[in-house]
Amino acid sequence: MDAREAEPWAGPVIGVSNVARYLAARGVVASPDDVLACAPLGGGVSSSVTLVETASGRLVVKQPLEHLRVAADWRASRTRALAEAAALEVAASAVPGTTPALVDVDEHALALTMTAAPSRWRPWKERLLAGSADAGIASRLGEVIARLHAAGAPALAADRAGGLARFVELRIDPYHDAVARAHPELAGPLLDAAHELTHGPDPCLVHGDFSPKNVLVGHDGLWVLDFEVAHLGNAIFDVAFMLSHLVLKSVHRPDRAPSYRDAARSFLDAYTSFRPRELAQRDLALHTGCLVLARVDGKSPVEYLSPPERDAARRVGRGLLLAPRAVLDQWPHGQRTTSP
Ligand SMILES: Nc1ncnc2c1ncn2[C@@H]1O[C@H](COP(=O)(O)OP(=O)(O)O)[C@@H](O)[C@H]1O
Ligand SMILES: [Mg+2]
Repeated sequence: MDAREAEPWAGPVIGVSNVARYLAARGVVASPDDVLACAPLGGGVSSSVTLVETASGRLVVKQPLEHLRVAADWRASRTRALAEAAALEVAASAVPGTTPALVDVDEHALALTMTAAPSRWRPWKERLLAGSADAGIASRLGEVIARLHAAGAPALAADRAGGLARFVELRIDPYHDAVARAHPELAGPLLDAAHELTHGPDPCLVHGDFSPKNVLVGHDGLWVLDFEVAHLGNAIFDVAFMLSHLVLKSVHRPDRAPSYRDAARSFLDAYTSFRPRELAQRDLALHTGCLVLARVDGKSPVEYLSPPERDAARRVGRGLLLAPRAVLDQWPHGQRTTSP
């Protein structure tokens, strides 16, 4: 399906006020009374996400918003719900047990119903910001994303152009193009990087939002969530995106930089043990630099950096972009966070 086809649903956003009736209408529960409790799930900027308790288990209903909840004007086609459904189906067989199970796909309302993670599981981002970077989790994530990259995705292949259009709408425009506008002197390498991401050879299933915020972890497992930017594209994006988040945490918590770097190494080691020939170190550093800059000066800046930390992140991102070597060799060890 073309991502820019007319959006079919003009009804109310599905949320706590109507989710019980919605699930009954979809036949997911027998009657609205089977919904025992529900609550909005915060954290995301791009969807209405509702947690639902039923007698037979916990569910999540997710419906993308057209206007993303960021300060800048940023709209995106809501048909990304269908890409998320297609990618979750691939993941269920490529990396079983590491994503929510799809319960219902509503192509009219563009909403998904899926199983909910155990209630004690938390976003990996919370642990990272608290200073704990578990190399075992990082390693598992390297394996999971490598296996996903190696999986075929016929449903997404059928609409490669639509997937790339969504990727441009949700990543290239708000990240690479926005940074190029903020730093015109960097526009050349940024736009080259964007071109590589959208014209690379050997396209594979790319998650598109593979960040610690979209990983839920518990003592007995982890799930990767939020596949709405999934497309057939260049695998380097997911790897660089995860690394950029670990770099940003190191800028924020220089005292913990060595452990974030160790996590990055475990992540990369696991990835390369599954896909040994896929990543050129220099390209990885360059793309990581773009994404570090994007989360400072793009349309959706990370919320946890202070102004001096943002300056430090700009220095790191610029170094990776303009003089790329191996990301682990350019890691921001004890980066100063105050301007001289
Ligand atoms: N299946 C799920 N089980 C438990 N929590 C979930 C599930 N799906 C989403 N969430 C929670 O809701 C948040 C937002 O969902 P997400 O799919 O990431 O949407 P967005 O596109 O808005 O970021 C997640 O960060 C997570 O905390
Ligand atoms: Mg999310």
